[in-house]
Amino acid sequence: TTTRYYEWTVSEASGAPDGYERTMLVVNNQFPGPLIEVNSGDQVVINVFNSLPNGTTIHWHGQWQNGTNYMDGTSGVTQCPIPPGMNYTYRFTIDPNQYGTYWWHAHASTQYTDGIYGPLVIHSPAEPVYGSYDREALVIMSDWYHDMSSGLLTQYLSNAGIDDQNSPIYDNPGAEPPPDSGLINGQMIGSSFDFKPNLRYRLRLINMATLTEFVFSVDNHMLEVVESDGTSVVGAAVHRAPINVAQRYSVILTTNQTLGSYNVRAEMQDICYKLDNPNLDTMVLGTLTYGATAVATPSTQNWNDAYPGDCIDLNATQLVPVIESPPPNSTMTVSVSMSFQQTFASGGQATLGYMNNTSWEADSADPTLMQMYKAGAQTSFSQSQLVVVNDDIQVIDLIMDNYDDSSHPFHLHGHTFWLLGIGDGSFVPGQSEVYLNYNNPPRRDTLTVPGYGWIAIRFIGDNPGLWAFHCHIGWHMAAGLLMQFASLPSRIQQFSIPDYLGQQCSSQSGGTILNR
Ligand code: C2O
Repeated sequence: TTTRYYEWTVSEASGAPDGYERTMLVVNNQFPGPLIEVNSGDQVVINVFNSLPNGTTIHWHGQWQNGTNYMDGTSGVTQCPIPPGMNYTYRFTIDPNQYGTYWWHAHASTQYTDGIYGPLVIHSPAEPVYGSYDREALVIMSDWYHDMSSGLLTQYLSNAGIDDQNSPIYDNPGAEPPPDSGLINGQMIGSSFDFKPNLRYRLRLINMATLTEFVFSVDNHMLEVVESDGTSVVGAAVHRAPINVAQRYSVILTTNQTLGSYNVRAEMQDICYKLDNPNLDTMVLGTLTYGATAVATPSTQNWNDAYPGDCIDLNATQLVPVIESPPPNSTMTVSVSMSFQQTFASGGQATLGYMNNTSWEADSADPTLMQMYKAGAQTSFSQSQLVVVNDDIQVIDLIMDNYDDSSHPFHLHGHTFWLLGIGDGSFVPGQSEVYLNYNNPPRRDTLTVPGYGWIAIRFIGDNPGLWAFHCHIGWHMAAGLLMQFASLPSRIQQFSIPDYLGQQCSSQSGGTILNR
């Protein structure tokens, strides 16, 4: 095995990705953060030094972490935050069967919003890329705010029903803070792709936003979708690829048009959430050039066919896995309802997210993994923890009804699930099963749950540890839209977890879990 070592320092820095100077958070002074590029089966060692004034953790989005759940980097679930002035070494093996496009980000409250994120790419000779390709390029899309997320979060959680006349942002009570801009590869304008003619380029699209779904396109060029969240799919040609928060797609673009420059478009979908900032330009532009001198503003036209403005993912026929893998029969069903409800919290009125009437808030003393590590399966969890336990290996069907009018990008840690079905209204047991697809269904780790709709996913609960299932909209996770699956508690107790994690968070000065 090859071991890949990284030395990272997380710190505050002054930066202006969209021209507006602010304090932001960076890794090794880079934004977006450093690329982790590895092969399947490699060992990865990332020593993270925290030079921030608050605690932080880093999560490796989409990594299975089989046997190393304590390296999943989820504050309040698998670890205490790394205190200021301290370091923590993440050490894990990339699963030999895992490849494709991933990312990493801070996983403590809404901290990643301020800039702690970057790409993670896994190469493997076993990856069946449909149609092959010559070169590759990263396309990172994100939304960007002019204020620190901690302040925005406080306002968001206290603005229920309040129309704040003094704030240009909160004229929409209960709404998420609207971003100030959108970025491609960390830039609002000027991101450029300098390609060569007549080659097939694999563009690795990654949505690292906090709130915003993007629709990606390149004028005059078809995109062949060949990967979704690490699963190779049979190439489906599209003009535009909608990509929700935390999702990834690889698309192949062939540079076979007239030599010149073309607009690259990452359009922020403001119908999924009201991005009602009057200064926001929702069309984020970059430039793709080949065989010519780049021009700053290409005159090419946007595709003029119907706009896929419906806040749903590419459909099942566009995401057919190359390697067939019919799901095994399920042995356990978990039904969850998801909603937002107004509540009267100590700080005033708030709108919180609920999963089965539980609004997640991290336990400030011990992450749930440590609670089970110390006490075993008999652990009783506080009211703010919805934890579903499987004592032995189960094939789990997770059925979720969304009682909110908006769509939500949900992510399951530590697993690639089968996406059995999506529908409108509620899932009616005994009736809705006819809409489920067991014949080589799409597999991914993040899906869009439609507004007032349902989803059914299946996964194998054979990976010991505590795995978060949550809405990836930063504001919503902080408002409580998170539940956990605890698999194989008896094996959790055999983990050899690092000493630091065995202590209580409250005893780590400055490493206390950031709550709402
Ligand atoms: Cu991208 Cu809970 O993670």
